[in-house]
Amino acid sequence: MSSVRSVVRGTGSYLPARVLTNAAMESMVATSDAWIRQRTGIGARHIAAEGEYTSDLATAAAKAALESAGIDASEIDLIVLATATPDLTFPATAVTVQERLGIEQGFAFDLQAVCSGFVYALTNADALLKAGQAKKALVIGAETFSRILDWSDRTTCVLFGDGAGAVVLEAVEESEAGGRGLLSCDLRADGRFRDKLYVDGGPSTTQTAGHLRMEGREVFKQAVGLVHGVVERTLQKAGVTADDLDWFVPHQANRRIIDATARKFDWPEEKIVVTVEGHGNTSAASIPLALDVAVRDGRIKQGDLVLVEALGGGFTWGAALVRW
Ligand code: UT7
Repeated sequence: MSSVRSVVRGTGSYLPARVLTNAAMESMVATSDAWIRQRTGIGARHIAAEGEYTSDLATAAAKAALESAGIDASEIDLIVLATATPDLTFPATAVTVQERLGIEQGFAFDLQAVCSGFVYALTNADALLKAGQAKKALVIGAETFSRILDWSDRTTCVLFGDGAGAVVLEAVEESEAGGRGLLSCDLRADGRFRDKLYVDGGPSTTQTAGHLRMEGREVFKQAVGLVHGVVERTLQKAGVTADDLDWFVPHQANRRIIDATARKFDWPEEKIVVTVEGHGNTSAASIPLALDVAVRDGRIKQGDLVLVEALGGGFTWGAALVRW
């Protein structure tokens, strides 16, 4: 048993300046502000500027997280960047971020689990810190989904947006952590669902980036039940109950999915962090974006018990519990 805890030292986020409102989408596809709000809770999404890449969004979020942690970039020896929209097929976008931050030590890699990417990245970074491979990690979720949307497909293009979020984790001896740190997690994947949410291109198949395709109703139907399982196991592993939770910070895909999940655990609205209205589904970026909002507005405080969860293409899904 490791005696190390991965403690959250800081958070940061970044949204591109350009905002695309539901009203603006009405002139692009046959949709309406009322339909989008009622079915998803989304009011607007942010779109990266021409020449603004996933690495730019990730670097901005990482800088904000380092500043809030009071930690210099030179102390970071691990970067795990969750993204399904990397700058290039390779090298990993994480090494571009590493270079942009002036970091010359440690290691950096991308992780691909689509919307569950941040939960996967957090879990992997935690394992690497516990294994003694690194001391201070940047865990980033960053996406430019606007680049892989079919802008003529109203069933998908209204749902997604661009953004980035980051947290700084530090390996702290359990005896000095004061109960803080990542307490438990539970990851799942089931490739039998891979055609429910996917991108129809890639280097090995079409030599193009492709476009996002989704059977939304099917994803919705599965999401609530599958997420329930990983959340239950995550709570069980930490020996806590649903009532012990201070904050539920779910993947921000759809307000109705968030509410349905919260209802299953009897979590009142006041305990749920919801940011989907302002930026839509930003895939791997959505959880760290929401965490940063709730930390900066004073909701999430040191010592709070915070649960994050997500489900995405694959399907991949997972949950993690953090004593903040
Ligand atoms: O982050 C990864 C996980 N992804 C998700 O969590 C997404 C999960 N799915 C969803 O969020 C929902 O299924 C959607 C928001 C995608 C769709 O909501 P829904 O309540 O499941 O609607 P639906 O797909 O059953 O479509 C209802 C109707 C259809 O018309 P008909 O067949 O009833 O005439 C659609 O063609 O709404 C129509 N529709 C639209 N209408 C206006 C679909 N997209 C739009 C649109 N504007 N943008």
